Amino acid sequence: MLFNFWKSPALHLAIFVLIAWAIPKAIFSSVPALSGTVKAAEGRPLEGVAVSARATDKTYTTTVFTDQLGEYSFPPLAEGPYAVWAQAVGFEVARAAQSVSAGKSAVHDFTLPVLRDFSKQVNGDEIAASLPEDTPANRRMKEVFLNTCTGCHPVNFALQNKFDPRGWRAIINFMLKTDMFGVVADPNRAAPVMKHYEDELVEYLSEVSGPLSPPLNYKLVPRPTGEAAQAVVTEFDLPPGNRPDELVAHNGTIWSEGTPSAHESHAAHDLTVDQRGIIWFADQINPERTIGRLDPVTGRVTGYKLAGKDGVSVGTHGISVDANGNVWFTNTEEGSLSEFDPKTEHFKRFPRPELMSPVSRTIVEVDSKGGIWAVTYDGTVRLDPRTGKYTEYKSPTPGGNTYGIAVDAKDNAWWAQMGSDRLGIADLESGKASEFLFQSRDDVEITEQDREAKKSLIATATSGFPDQKGPRRLGADKNGDTIWVAEFYADRLARININTKQIKEYTLPHPYTRPYTAAVDKNHMVWVALMNTDRLAKFDPFTEKFTEYLLPTRGTEIRHLVIDNSTTPPTIWVSYFRTNKIARIQLPPISKAVALTGGKWFEKTGLSRFQ
Ligand code: HEC
Repeated sequence: MLFNFWKSPALHLAIFVLIAWAIPKAIFSSVPALSGTVKAAEGRPLEGVAVSARATDKTYTTTVFTDQLGEYSFPPLAEGPYAVWAQAVGFEVARAAQSVSAGKSAVHDFTLPVLRDFSKQVNGDEIAASLPEDTPANRRMKEVFLNTCTGCHPVNFALQNKFDPRGWRAIINFMLKTDMFGVVADPNRAAPVMKHYEDELVEYLSEVSGPLSPPLNYKLVPRPTGEAAQAVVTEFDLPPGNRPDELVAHNGTIWSEGTPSAHESHAAHDLTVDQRGIIWFADQINPERTIGRLDPVTGRVTGYKLAGKDGVSVGTHGISVDANGNVWFTNTEEGSLSEFDPKTEHFKRFPRPELMSPVSRTIVEVDSKGGIWAVTYDGTVRLDPRTGKYTEYKSPTPGGNTYGIAVDAKDNAWWAQMGSDRLGIADLESGKASEFLFQSRDDVEITEQDREAKKSLIATATSGFPDQKGPRRLGADKNGDTIWVAEFYADRLARININTKQIKEYTLPHPYTRPYTAAVDKNHMVWVALMNTDRLAKFDPFTEKFTEYLLPTRGTEIRHLVIDNSTTPPTIWVSYFRTNKIARIQLPPISKAVALTGGKWFEKTGLSRFQ
């Protein structure tokens, strides 16, 4: 019998030994680029502290969170000098300079001194939760304030300075007229619901946020723990479209500096990810940029301008990518849809017929047949890109401020009429539209006067009545039979079965977070953008539990998120409207390319973190 080399036990043993020697070496020889411990001044380890690292020559920042032992470790970082800092509410920021070099593990331990006045670090939902709730009148006014004053900015921005009654009157007088960019197109404009509550708001705000008001007893949300503390967040800075070589200086990176004004740039409202992992974002107001392209490998941002009539770029708000990698967006100047081909870098307009209701700003959705959907002022439209023909669907009950849209697994579109608590539904096959009506909230106390006002005044996306739900944006489970609705004013997430129209509502883990949009990933997880706090929520429909992830910037004001389902688990991308950043949130198990660091990182988290 011939000696079979490949079956030789000696060879098997040799191979086994080689593998046993090689595998741990491959895994354990690489060490985290940067790690360490974060403690309070008295030596107690702190969990859930955000530790951020930024290469001095790059435009993005990576953040990880400490575990129960107060330990943090970073995934691989490029070589070079870094600025590193650690922050948690109630503590001063601690900073360090650290150099990262290949094959070496840099270690830096932080001690965080207590910060006495940490009011500027407190989040919008936490401030709202701390406002008095002792009497029915206070509870009602809190809802009135939140529903009229959180549509354009979070509460921590609106309440970061104190004013007397004259001051608050002057502020509200401006808020009545302005749009979300601070532009007063019509000096006689007065947002109807805000106007209705003007006097009550002046009195209330002077009491709770006046020069003599007692300090608020902050109800803080605990720092991230468990799964939420395992996220890796990379925040990419966006330059203003007309100043591509500059970054906005006050951008919420250091929490104790407070929530910044959005006045300087208002960069990305919505975003989308293409098949190559490139991020495209919608720039609503910049005169030189209609859409932007972010390359996540380099952090490089390129702006593209579609000039309107006056030479200024047309504004846009909603953006999506089709199956061919073409970018679609709402052209708010022309009330239509436009397309950008990344290969030729050319824009193409799809003019709307004169009689069609103009496409409003909001969202673009692509259905499985290549149809492009967008919301109009009166309902929704579907564009067939091959023929350039729009098909229009009107809201059965007109008005109510149309906003979000989602195309469900059957290619039917659902759009929100935020101000009147209803949804329109377009049936692609029959070409007909129907509607879905939400019941008003029954957990808030409203007065007879509120009920009367509601009959005649129309709520908008930026000011609603205390008992409204405010369905703002929605997301469909493309592999299921549900759509999910962000109930902005009610702080709830609603699940609607697309066949039976049965609804189930889930209250978010913390009140006053203001859910703006929902999106569903390939595993049926529902991701919710929270506008009045710097967190993002995930809802697991199987366990019916929420997890919240902290975003390490003050004033994120997220209004949109997009899911990259090409990674496992999916990667979440969010646009910070107020602070000019786009963030990537990666969760364990994080793909090799990003987190194959081995060492402590590996030991602590176990094999399951690697793909
Ligand atoms: C339609 C949009 C809109 C609504 C609704 C709105 N605001 Fe504003 N608000 C703005 C804009 C725009 C700014 C200035 C730029 C910015 O957001 O960064 C601003 C700024 C402010 C500031 C200045 C903050 C500071 O200290 O620098 C205060 C205070 C404020 N708003 C209070 C309110 C209150 C109170 C309400 C509700 C009665 C309200 N806003 C509703 C658009 C709005």
